[in-house]
Amino acid sequence: MPEDTNRNWTLAARPDGAPKLTDFKLNVSSIPKPGPGEVLIATRYHSLDPYMRGRMNPPTPASYTAPVPIGGVMESDSVGEVIESNSELFNVGDIAMGKIGWQEYGVLDGRNARKVDPNAAPISTSVGVLGMPGLTAYFGLFEVGRPIAGDTVVVSAASGAVGAVVGQLAKINGCRVIGVAGSDDKVSYVVDELGFDAGINYKTEDVPERMAALCPDGVNLYWDNVGGPITDAAVDNLAIGGRAVICGQIALYNATSPPQGPRNIARMLLTRRARMQGFLVFQYADRYEEGLDRLASWIRDGSLKYREDIVEGIENSPSAFIGLLEGANFGKLVIKVS
Ligand SMILES: NC(=O)c1ccc[n+]([C@@H]2O[C@H](COP(=O)([O-])OP(=O)(O)OC[C@H]3O[C@@H](n4cnc5c(N)ncnc54)[C@H](OP(=O)(O)O)[C@@H]3O)[C@@H](O)[C@H]2O)c1
Repeated sequence: MPEDTNRNWTLAARPDGAPKLTDFKLNVSSIPKPGPGEVLIATRYHSLDPYMRGRMNPPTPASYTAPVPIGGVMESDSVGEVIESNSELFNVGDIAMGKIGWQEYGVLDGRNARKVDPNAAPISTSVGVLGMPGLTAYFGLFEVGRPIAGDTVVVSAASGAVGAVVGQLAKINGCRVIGVAGSDDKVSYVVDELGFDAGINYKTEDVPERMAALCPDGVNLYWDNVGGPITDAAVDNLAIGGRAVICGQIALYNATSPPQGPRNIARMLLTRRARMQGFLVFQYADRYEEGLDRLASWIRDGSLKYREDIVEGIENSPSAFIGLLEGANFGKLVIKVS
């Protein structure tokens, strides 16, 4: 590719069910110019996250934020090098992250970018364990789930970007942690490498039966990344006074007609005197520095491990994203752009 061009992925069509490669379009344009107060960033890594599926939906019914317009650049957090700066906040050569999207170069207002210390951790972690997914785990667990030492905690999508952090933070907090994941390798990883107490492979095991056997006194805290039958099983096993943190519903993101509730939920919340609460990470935006400091200190002392699934080449962004929604990733999925 000539050095003066910018490749990016735009939304070509709104998917009906699972996204297809033809829902995305690769474009080549000139590199944008930063205006006053802005920086030009050459992307090194862009993130791929499940929420991007929601950004592909039509504007109605409205979600918590507007979708990407047809022809708009696919949204993502990205991290890269500042190669031009009109902002007093950044020098050329700084590493910065922000909402650049699926593209090789992006312009951001300096006030909307965060400086990343490349000596503290690999810079890709700024969109993973030291970025939005890590912060989601930190605030969701401590502010919404409020774990108590001795709690039995069940985490779905346990080997992923958010789930792996939630389970380890619950362990740090003295809980017993059971992870639910979609392969034997993922289950072994959370148990043998991350120190979870047990795991369930939801694709090969009877989830309600295994969850009941592993949680004889019930589930005190269920972390819901997925919805669907795993959540049904966790809710059926809630302990009296149990809590369910609704973080995501990935099992339903591609559904063309989502199942209608309340299924077992209302009955179980009633009889177990339980609490279920959803949250969005940006509710805690004014406390991100606190969360990042805590996460970084756990990484430094070895009590928080992370795994990245790095796919090389921006040309692979759509296929990697489609794979994310099918469980093909193993750890935080990022695209290495350059
Ligand atoms: N509330 C918030 O502010 C917030 C912020 C960030 C993320 N989230 C949500 O948190 C969840 C996890 O996100 P992440 O970034 O950490 O992704 P991730 O776990 O790294 O990747 C997604 C994983 O979901 C699992 N999955 C896919 N389809 C599934 C299905 N039908 N049933 C069960 N599991 C399925 C797959 O793992 P398996 O192989 O184990 O199936 C896949 O690897 C998502 O629902 C996301 O939307 C919410």
